[in-house]
Amino acid sequence: MDKFSHVPLPEMALSPQIRRLLDQLDASQGDVASAMSLPPECYTSEEWFEFEKRAVFDSEWTALGHVGAIPENGDYFALEVLGEPLLVVRGKDGEVRVLSSVCRHRGHLLGDAPRGKARGGFTCPFHGWSYDLEGTLTGAPEMEGTLPFEQLRHTACLPEFRSTIWNGFIFVNFSGEAEPLAPRLKGLTSLVENHHMADLAAITPVEWADNAWNWKFMQENALEPYHTHYLHSGIHDFAPSTNVRFTEWQEDDDAAIYREVHFTNADGGFNISSKALFPPLPDLTEEERARVVFAGVMPNLFFGAQGDVVFYYVILPQSAGNITLSVGMLTSWDNLSLPTAPLLLKGTLDGVQMFNEQDTVANIATHKGLRSRVAPRTRWAPNEKTLVQLSNWLIKRYKRYAARVGEALREDA
Ligand code: FES
Ligand SMILES: [Fe+2]
Repeated sequence: MDKFSHVPLPEMALSPQIRRLLDQLDASQGDVASAMSLPPECYTSEEWFEFEKRAVFDSEWTALGHVGAIPENGDYFALEVLGEPLLVVRGKDGEVRVLSSVCRHRGHLLGDAPRGKARGGFTCPFHGWSYDLEGTLTGAPEMEGTLPFEQLRHTACLPEFRSTIWNGFIFVNFSGEAEPLAPRLKGLTSLVENHHMADLAAITPVEWADNAWNWKFMQENALEPYHTHYLHSGIHDFAPSTNVRFTEWQEDDDAAIYREVHFTNADGGFNISSKALFPPLPDLTEEERARVVFAGVMPNLFFGAQGDVVFYYVILPQSAGNITLSVGMLTSWDNLSLPTAPLLLKGTLDGVQMFNEQDTVANIATHKGLRSRVAPRTRWAPNEKTLVQLSNWLIKRYKRYAARVGEALREDA
């Protein structure tokens, strides 16, 4: 027994609709020359989304944010991941923990604000129960008449979920079954190691809510270079799709899908000037400053690592057709202490937003299109190679969960 709470969602029986979709997945497996896209209902069906919560999000490492947002002991942020309320807290020992934010009395949520400094711990506003930064119950007023505090203290601590940190990004695994993450990110780790992301300063993430498309589009749109000189014509020309380098990728070894794009000039940046606005991060080579690495750490972290900053999205699905994005940015502490930093930061974030606005229009339109009775199931262009990788990654998880549930049902019969 370890100290973590492993509480996957209740197993889900495979309905006729889920079975029908599972039967259609084989056509999406393989390589870019022969595979088709996933069935449209995999993007639009709420039932499939319920299946994905278990097969993908519960079973894997789900991203929550970056340690740079909670640099000091007692710093925390609160968020809901697929309906599960969490507190991500840096304890008085400096360790980052992922705790349930559900009070053990009657379930009120803890954490006065979406983010802040908890100092000694958390006190529930409902009846005053209190917890320290590690989730241990420290007070439960007026309970002595029914239960001695010593007894209560052992049974009413906040559950801690299994978590891991890679390059400063914090992930949670609810099922307890995900394989260790870092060994499955070797290729990506070496590609971005000179960014030293774990040591960068993080701005407070901005939340963009109510994005009316499926979570997979967010990764797909960011990972494929086919659309960039159509949808982003004129503003993406410094990073042309002809300059893309894909990665040969072994699913068993990888938890990430990624590509590089080499700029036509040194120190490119995704903003109106097409130039990085901050000075370059100190340890990058000339070549590294002249490219961006776009990476999806599956399922729900996307980042773009360019010469001066790393921008990222944590994708928080709300339903099959709605996501919340937590948008953050990392750069060196030196860069953030420049007198011009507020202006440079605004220009950098406005740049990301400029691309995002175009992608938003496309994502909403595509989500609508995939709800049509004649929605397409496409063959891929060579520049959509990452999307076949993404399908293959997902299908493996879909099939693994379906096999496990099928096994359990057979045992029950
Ligand atoms: S619900 Fe938290 S103290 Fe009662
Ligand atoms: Fe785009």
